[in-house]
Amino acid sequence: MKIVVIGGNGLIGKKLVSRLREVGHEVVAASPSSGVNAVTGAGLADVLVGAKVVVDVTNSPSFEDEAVLEFFEKSSHNLLAAETKAGVGHHLALSIVGVERLPDSGYMRAKVVQEKLIESAGIPYTILRATQFFELMGAIVQSATDGQTVRLPSALMQPVLSDDVAAMLAELALGEPVNGIVELAGPDRFRFDELISQFLSANHDTRLVVADSQARYFGVKLDEQSLVPQGNSRIGSTHFKDWLNQASA
Ligand SMILES: NC(=O)c1ccc[n+]([C@@H]2O[C@H](COP(=O)([O-])OP(=O)(O)OC[C@H]3O[C@@H](n4cnc5c(N)ncnc54)[C@H](OP(=O)(O)O)[C@@H]3O)[C@@H](O)[C@H]2O)c1
Repeated sequence: MKIVVIGGNGLIGKKLVSRLREVGHEVVAASPSSGVNAVTGAGLADVLVGAKVVVDVTNSPSFEDEAVLEFFEKSSHNLLAAETKAGVGHHLALSIVGVERLPDSGYMRAKVVQEKLIESAGIPYTILRATQFFELMGAIVQSATDGQTVRLPSALMQPVLSDDVAAMLAELALGEPVNGIVELAGPDRFRFDELISQFLSANHDTRLVVADSQARYFGVKLDEQSLVPQGNSRIGSTHFKDWLNQASA
């Protein structure tokens, strides 16, 4: 089966492309570095010829509010229109757990727009919402650092390893469209400060971690439950501690 992975050269995209190739599918990794641009539409019609499934794991080069909205709006619009013309039978996209609960975040608002475009396009679809990747922890620390202190909201986190996200996407890409949302989280739920303390200690980083009810997550106020699944979710197999131990070994 021909599967096109848009954003197939990114963190998740690369892992997904390898997994699908390993089980014998014809997989095209499409992104600007391979001549396919979902925002301008360049190369889309050609790459979709004969595709049965399209997976969208793109990300915006800029996280500035207007730029990110324009990215997900234009790329989703172009992709879905090209897929309709090409007769693609399943559109699978990666979104974020809690995306609808954080309207103060420009990034989350843009992902909601992406989800709504998918839901109304008329193409059978599946949306996988994942929690924060383990690999995001470094960026969280950078954004929350104030001198020698890392100030974090009093919220819960249930992060997941990128390889587990890619494995879930591979399973969904090879199954029937759900025409709905599937959620994925990691196996452990932490308080934000406890999670980041473990991350810093594994990296021999002596910065002080403080839970602060006024602290923001990338500029956004969180409730305790904002970032964790509220109902049934699929659970990744990799524990954060094991990933930290492996990374430091
Ligand atoms: N980080 C998290 O914790 C988290 C959690 C849940 C969901 N997500 C979602 O996961 C998705 C993928 O994230 P990631 O970390 O794998 O992203 P990434 O490593 O930044 O990769 C992004 C990919 O998008 C491609 N791309 C950029 N502009 C494009 C365009 N105009 N047309 C087509 N492709 C384009 C890039 O192409 P080049 O390689 O050619 O530059 C790259 O292959 C995002 O949508 C994000 O919202 C992230």
